[in-house]
Amino acid sequence: MLLLIGLATALIYGLYRYYTMVSRYPRGPMPWPIIGNMFQQDFARQHLTSIKFAPSFDGVFTLYTPGPVVYLTDYVALREAFVERGDDFAGRPDNIVMEELLIDFGMGKNLMEEQVLSSVREYLDALDKIENKEKVDLCWYIQLMVGNIINETLFGYRYKYDDCAQLINYVEDFQKWIGDLAKSPEFVVGFVAPVLLKIPFIGYHCLYKHRDNMRKICQYIVDNVQRCMDGYKSDDEPTCFVHAYKQRMPNNSFLDDDNLVSTCNDFFLAGHETTTTTLRWAVLHLAMNQETQENLRREVHAVVGRDRLPRMADKSKMIYTQATVLEVQRMANILGLNLAHRTTRDTVVKGHRIPKDTMVNGDIHYVMARDPHFVNPERLDLADRVVAFSLGKRACAGEVTVYSLARVELFLGLTATVQNYHILPRDGEPIDFEPLPMNILQPKDQYIRLEKV
Ligand code: HEM
Repeated sequence: MLLLIGLATALIYGLYRYYTMVSRYPRGPMPWPIIGNMFQQDFARQHLTSIKFAPSFDGVFTLYTPGPVVYLTDYVALREAFVERGDDFAGRPDNIVMEELLIDFGMGKNLMEEQVLSSVREYLDALDKIENKEKVDLCWYIQLMVGNIINETLFGYRYKYDDCAQLINYVEDFQKWIGDLAKSPEFVVGFVAPVLLKIPFIGYHCLYKHRDNMRKICQYIVDNVQRCMDGYKSDDEPTCFVHAYKQRMPNNSFLDDDNLVSTCNDFFLAGHETTTTTLRWAVLHLAMNQETQENLRREVHAVVGRDRLPRMADKSKMIYTQATVLEVQRMANILGLNLAHRTTRDTVVKGHRIPKDTMVNGDIHYVMARDPHFVNPERLDLADRVVAFSLGKRACAGEVTVYSLARVELFLGLTATVQNYHILPRDGEPIDFEPLPMNILQPKDQYIRLEKV
């Protein structure tokens, strides 16, 4: 009897402690003790989580997987948190997963429009050489165009379209890696409850097997840095990021070889698949929307003509194109799960208290997919609400750097394609807009038709 009373008291006390903890966070769907809301989420399709829960709350709610993660699901909440209270939300989760997989990025060099244009030129040449334009999968052409820009910036060379097996292997391994992550709910659990990582078998499955696979993928970067160093002379003017980094190393104690490799790696990871995936969706949307494509081409031909490539200086005269690129980014909506933020102090959003050191998901996917203003535009400046690069202090580094590489790639890549080609669907083959179940929401491989303009 005493034992039963003791157990019941312990249980009640445990529940009391658990729900006292829960009461410190913004309200969300009721979590179960220990497991939280884990079984209410589809880990392979993280972008569906907010669709399920957000309508019941006012833009701020907490889910437990099993640790608390605060979701921000409307533009007002996102802005208040990431811009108005930017310092409070500028932390990244300071846990072992982050350290192992996403070490801080150090943007080292301004990225030149010329470099993007050279890559676009080679991409157009490669399209020109396609014999059967009735059945084209643009995936690898876009991968290479974007990959070459980053490759040249980091390592000083570009791949040829008929000799790029190394890059293809890297991309395929990376895609398999993110596919495996999406199939591993235990990864998310380890992320939110790092204490589990200390348990041998569980730790391996939650994190270490993914880390080991990532290390194998990183060998591409290690090899490239090595290869790049073969031609390095400390007195020469640096022609790529690796050389510039090496040259500064003797005078800056924060720079070392490990950091060089991880910086190059982060650059590749953050900048390659994101831009490629957006451009791949853009092609599919334009194939589907011939009227938009025609309007776009008309503006490109009117402002740029047909004899030279578009340049960033043309952009201010191309209002329709600017709007199309934004809408393509919104429709592509490629990040099913934003990078996690961490609160650096106790704070408040829309009147909801959020304690220090809380993980926060600024759900840009939900905001772009569901903001009612996109349905009834009225007179608001909707461009601000296309938050593909997120907002505030932690917004995408590829967007906020001086040369705004991501936007340059999207603008020049897209305008050059429609300037030179009609993108058409294939007869009897409807475009499939259902993304693959991963955190970067990629389209399925599919064919379109190209017709020279
Ligand atoms: C269309 C293409 C791209 C999209 C949609 C995109 C989107 C994003 C988003 C949503 C974030 C997270 C922001 C947050 O935590 O709130 C991010 C972070 C980041 N992006 Fe991009 N990105 C793109 C291209 C690029 C490119 C081309 C580069 C580099 C060349 C890049 C480098 C980075 C880096 C380094 C971070 C981490 C910044 C930090 O931790 O503070 N991205 N990006």
